[in-house]
Amino acid sequence: MQHKKMKDFPEDFLWGSASAAYQVEGAWDEDGKGASVWDTFVRIPGKTFKGTNGDVAVDHYHRFKEDVALMAEQGLKAYRFSIAWSRIFPHNMNETNEKGLQFYDDLIDELLANQIEPVVTLYHWDIPQYLQDEYLGWESRQIIEDFTTYAEAVFRRYGDRVKYWVSLNEQNIFISHGYMMATHPPAVKDPKRMYQANHHANVANAAAINKYRSLGMDGQIGPSFAYSPGYPIDARPENILAAENFDEMNAYFWMDVYAKGEYPTAIWNWLEENDLQPEIRPEDFKILKAGKPDFMGVNYYQTSTVAANPLDGVGIGTPNYSGEKGSTKRGGIPGVFKEVLNPFVEKTNWDWVIDPLGLRIALRRINSRYGLPILITENGLGEYDKLEEGQIHDQYRIDYLNDHAKAVQEAITDGVKVLGYCTWSYTDLLSWLNGYQKRYGFVYVDRDEESPKELKRYKKASYYWYKEVIEQNGKNL
Ligand code: BG6
Repeated sequence: MQHKKMKDFPEDFLWGSASAAYQVEGAWDEDGKGASVWDTFVRIPGKTFKGTNGDVAVDHYHRFKEDVALMAEQGLKAYRFSIAWSRIFPHNMNETNEKGLQFYDDLIDELLANQIEPVVTLYHWDIPQYLQDEYLGWESRQIIEDFTTYAEAVFRRYGDRVKYWVSLNEQNIFISHGYMMATHPPAVKDPKRMYQANHHANVANAAAINKYRSLGMDGQIGPSFAYSPGYPIDARPENILAAENFDEMNAYFWMDVYAKGEYPTAIWNWLEENDLQPEIRPEDFKILKAGKPDFMGVNYYQTSTVAANPLDGVGIGTPNYSGEKGSTKRGGIPGVFKEVLNPFVEKTNWDWVIDPLGLRIALRRINSRYGLPILITENGLGEYDKLEEGQIHDQYRIDYLNDHAKAVQEAITDGVKVLGYCTWSYTDLLSWLNGYQKRYGFVYVDRDEESPKELKRYKKASYYWYKEVIEQNGKNL
């Protein structure tokens, strides 16, 4: 519907921005940190764009005070960051590393001293390497206990000051890239193993939420899901069904488990038909059902448009990691759906669809299916930026964010409860597979694939735009 009058953003709306440990911190082996699977993976030739890694990243570990000062000057209300598990438990799950714990103490205190709400992600893809070596990480049930032990340690340490927790970041991405496409560690291509690892991640996620509740802390916790709502390419019934399949397989397969503690029926049956179903223990459903989140975290970048795909149709595609527009090879799942070009939307240089209305649709769908409040934990535009005489004129990013923030306001006017909006990302950072040239930040960091240079920070035009949005609580959108 079209609204005659828009509702205002709530007074306590969290205008935020986000990052992840591996993508910003650097200091990969400092102060007792152990290696994570990403520290290992990036050293395998050919795995990342121009062999880039996060050894130095944007050196947030040493420059966090400078970064927080920039946030404070901008008036940022919330900063979402992740804790590197391998800083806390570097070598085994019995011993914590005080220096690693101290780093996040300092970061949290610095944020709070500047009235910035910390939103803390427990896991943004960087499982310690020793857990991968010992028992194949997410493929073993042992991960449930170990993830909960790690979660409990950080809840106890920071729970007095942190009121918003994100359990797993984009389980759908790290699982599918790690075990089906082999583009993330552990670089496996095996759907059976993928669904098993995924099930353990589901139970670990719920177990961590249950642990948080059992500690009686007064905060909120939920996972962040990478949601690309599916559209049918046209009104042909078989394409409508393909879109249903797409959403059930790529979205509800995760979000139903989070919110309802169950797998959606049609996909579960499809898994059984293909002998891909994970092994589940009866007690798992008890854990899953108890571990309902306080909010659904949503990372929204784009929508997907799909059509029917015959049983002998296309399989896995190839994403564009080069920034060469039009180089994506769309894929699908035979007999389920295939991705097709949506002629009605613009695309970025990495072929990501620009579709602000899709964010409103995403929020509406989650609201009506689960009735949970939503925290937008990521949304942003990855583009080439140019530093010209100390300035970055990223009007394209302002347009993108402005339109998406307006879509959030439309959804709020529709009646969806949205707690906050975190852009991706605060500073420029390492894009896992796209190096440093695909930039997302409000703050430009002067480094490239070849050299970290001096890592000097520059405020982009979008930095000033967001400052104004926050000051006016979105009234100027
Ligand atoms: C999300 C992740 O998938 O998207 C981030 O949570 C990531 O870590 C972001 O950087 C953008 O993706 P990319 O591939 O453009 O870096």
